[in-house]
Amino acid sequence: MARVLVVGGGIAGLWTAVRAADAGHEVELVTKTELADGNTRHAQGGIAAALFPDDSAERHFADTIEAGAGLGDPAAVRVLCDEGPARVRDLIRFGVAFDHGDSGLERGLEAAHSRARILHAGGDATGAAIEHALVATVRRRAVRIHEHTMLLDLLVSSDATATTRGARVTGARLLAASGPAFEVAADVVVLATGGAGQLFAHTTNPDVATGDGVAAAWRAGAEVADLEFVQFHPTALAAPGTPLISEAVRGEGAVLRDRDGRRFMSLVDPRAELASRDVVARAVWRRSLEQDGVPVVLDATALGRAFLDRRFPGLGEACRAAGYDWAAEPVPVTPAAHYAMGGVAVDLDGRTTLPGLLAVGETARTGVHGANRLASNSLLEAAVFADRAARAIGADTRADAAGPTAPTAGAGIRRVGEPVAGSGHPTSVVDRETLRALMWEHVGLERSAAGLAAASAVLDTWQAPEPRDRRSAEDRNLLDLARLTVAAAAARTQSVGAHFRADAATDAVRPAAAATQAAHAPHRR
Ligand code: SIN
Repeated sequence: MARVLVVGGGIAGLWTAVRAADAGHEVELVTKTELADGNTRHAQGGIAAALFPDDSAERHFADTIEAGAGLGDPAAVRVLCDEGPARVRDLIRFGVAFDHGDSGLERGLEAAHSRARILHAGGDATGAAIEHALVATVRRRAVRIHEHTMLLDLLVSSDATATTRGARVTGARLLAASGPAFEVAADVVVLATGGAGQLFAHTTNPDVATGDGVAAAWRAGAEVADLEFVQFHPTALAAPGTPLISEAVRGEGAVLRDRDGRRFMSLVDPRAELASRDVVARAVWRRSLEQDGVPVVLDATALGRAFLDRRFPGLGEACRAAGYDWAAEPVPVTPAAHYAMGGVAVDLDGRTTLPGLLAVGETARTGVHGANRLASNSLLEAAVFADRAARAIGADTRADAAGPTAPTAGAGIRRVGEPVAGSGHPTSVVDRETLRALMWEHVGLERSAAGLAAASAVLDTWQAPEPRDRRSAEDRNLLDLARLTVAAAAARTQSVGAHFRADAATDAVRPAAAATQAAHAPHRR
C-alpha cells in the first residue's frame, strides 16, 4: 500500500483521497486554506453527463470536441463522456441531492450543448453541494487532513535506483500558516490545486487560485501543456469581485444586449447567446470596447421573478449585493478569467511525466477541453479522472514502475518547456497587482505578438520573491506561470478556441466565426 499525499481540497482532491483511502492506501490531504475553500464551491451551472433518454455519450462527445475547437484529445473525451454517468451516480451515492422536478432529475441547458444535460443542485449551488457531500465523505475515511498548509515545491529524487528512468517525486515541501517549511515523504503526490485565475486582473476565481500545483510541477521538471488556453467566462457581473453569472441563465433564455438595448449575439453566431463560451466572451468584450468601455448587459427580466428566485437564488443575492435587482432590470456583465484548459500534462490515469506525481482536476491537462472547455464539463472531468488516478496509484508505486505513459497529444498541442529566454536583468520583486493588470491587458481575450512581447519584457524585469509565507509563495508561482503562459501564447501564432491572436490573418479552426467577428472589430482600443 502506498503513502499518498493529495494536495488540494476541491472535488478532484477530495475524490482522489476518498478512493485512495478506500483502496487501502495511507492518505494525507493538505489544503491551502480550509476544505471547501477552492473553486469547486463556486461552480454554479452544474455537472454535464449523458443521463437522459434523448441523449448519449456520443452526443456529449461530439459537443465536447466541437466546443474545444477540434483540439480535444478524442481518447480522453471518450473516457470523459463514457464514464461520466457512472461518476454522477457516485456523487448521488456520496449524498449530492441534485434538483428534481415532477418528472425526475431536472436538467439545464448551457452554451454549445446540443441537449439539456446539466444536473444542478440548490438551483445555482451545485459546486457547494458537491463539496459539502465530498467533505463529509472524506471525513468518514481514515484520511489525515491538514488545512492552512500550502505546497511549496515537490521533492524529487534523482537516485537512479529509485526508478529505471531516474527522477521520481518522493514527497513535498510544505508551509503551514505558522512555523517553518517542512517536508513530507510520499510514494505518490497527487496535485489537485485547481487553476490560476488570479493571474488576471478580472477573474471569477477565488483568491486561492494561484496555480500552485502547475508551477511546482513545472519547477520539478514535469511537462506542462496548453497554458495559452485560458477560458474567459462571458458573463461575470461588472461589479467589484466580478461574481460569476452562470451560463445556465442564458440557457434558460436570458439575452445579452448592447447599450442601445439591441441583442448582438445573433449577428456573431447563429447560436446567439448559446454559442460556445470563447465566441460569446470575445463578442461581449468587443461590443463593450465598441461602446467606449460601457459594459453590455444580461437581460433576464423575461424569466420572471418567481422563476429566477427558485432557479437561481444565489445569483439573485449576488446581484442584490452589487445593487441590482435582476428580475426588474438588465445587469452589466464583463468577461473574466475563469478556467485553465492547460496544466500539467497527464495520461488517461492522471500520471504526469514524472514518476510518483499525478495531477487531477483543473491542475491537469487531460486533453478533454481542447482549446475551449464545454460548459459544466469541469466538475465531470475532475470526478472521472480523479477516480481513474486513484485506481492507478497501486501500479504507480511498484518498485519497478516504468514511469508514466507519455500524455496523449491532441492535434495541435504545444508542450511548454522553458519560458521565452529573458533578455533583461530582473531589477525588482514581482508586484502581484501589476502582474495581474499586465496579463489582463496583453494576455487576455485578444493577444498579439507585440502585446506578448511587451508583457514578456516587463516580466523579465521581475524576480520571484523567496517563498517565506503564503503570499510570497503564491507570487513566485504566479510569476512562473505568467512567463510560461506568455511563452505558450507567443508560440501559437494562429487563433483557435479561447486563444485569439488579433494579429493572425484568420481563425485556423473556426474561419466562419472569425470572419464574422472581424466584421465587428472595434474601431479603437
Ligand atoms: C457557469 O455556470 O456558467 C460556469 C460553469 C462552468 O464553468 O462550466
